[in-house]
Amino acid sequence: MILVTGANGALGALVAGQLAGRCDTVLGTRDPARTATALPVRRIDFDDEDSLAWGFAGVDVLLMISAGFGEDDTVLARHGAAIDAAEKAGVGQVVYTSLTAAGDHLPYALPHRWTERRLRESGMDWTVLRNGLYAELLGALATPSPDGRITAPLGTGALAAVARADLAEAAAKVVVNATAHVGKTYELVGERAVSGAQLAAAHGPHISYAPTTLAEARAVIAASAVEPFQVPMLVGTYSAIAAGMLADTGGDLRELLGRAPICPLSAAVAA
Ligand SMILES: NC(=O)c1ccc[n+]([C@@H]2O[C@H](COP(=O)([O-])OP(=O)(O)OC[C@H]3O[C@@H](n4cnc5c(N)ncnc54)[C@H](OP(=O)(O)O)[C@@H]3O)[C@@H](O)[C@H]2O)c1
Repeated sequence: MILVTGANGALGALVAGQLAGRCDTVLGTRDPARTATALPVRRIDFDDEDSLAWGFAGVDVLLMISAGFGEDDTVLARHGAAIDAAEKAGVGQVVYTSLTAAGDHLPYALPHRWTERRLRESGMDWTVLRNGLYAELLGALATPSPDGRITAPLGTGALAAVARADLAEAAAKVVVNATAHVGKTYELVGERAVSGAQLAAAHGPHISYAPTTLAEARAVIAASAVEPFQVPMLVGTYSAIAAGMLADTGGDLRELLGRAPICPLSAAVAA
């Protein structure tokens, strides 16, 4: 049996769509009432051990979608509890959605690397999907203002952005043929690095690119409604892209998909 966690999240819902109609697949989410699917649904909350003991019963392959919203200690406790419970329940293989290696420059890399290490040290088989940053995330971080300017502090940097749908399809392909991927770590970044100027041009001639500084962006973000831990996450993401640390293309995406990736510019503009 395959279990996909985070089924109400954007990535999990896309994976669920890929696996719809399979008799061997179950979805996991904190809120099953919100899950619109014909697949069976279990309540899975990494913060609630009781839900994990029951929820992981009978699972052969666990697609563990990272639950990265929180301070590092929150996410480590959450992911640690999920892996502990998977071991206890006799799960055979965990496929974990991690962060691309270039993401080591990002403030939220630590929980991903910790989780990868915890999995490697577990008695279970494992596969790591090191996802690049979503094209949709870039689109959201660099949305044009009502007066037609993208002011995101991306400088002249670019991001090897990847459409979330591609990452979902790659994950689905891995879990349905999981034994072929035991012990593998895949780098799933886009094949084209997208800059702020290119994104503005893709929106159309009425949109210009006028990047602010990181300091200006930090002040705006800090004054907004985001949680305190999100301020360094967001500023650090802009900074890493602007510095060109997330621009490297290549990796394993095309091979896993068996086709060319979706154009990241289209996915970013549509976000
Ligand atoms: N590569 C990127 O650009 C990028 C960008 C943002 C985030 N991420 C990471 O990738 C993950 C999936 O991305 P997404 O686009 O689907 O994000 P999303 O739409 O914000 O979904 C967040 C996910 O976290 C799950 N979650 C939160 N708390 C949980 C808990 N206590 N126990 C179990 N699951 C929990 C949610 O599951 P339910 O609501 O179904 O319980 C949901 O799947 C994120 O959680 C984050 O770690 C990656």
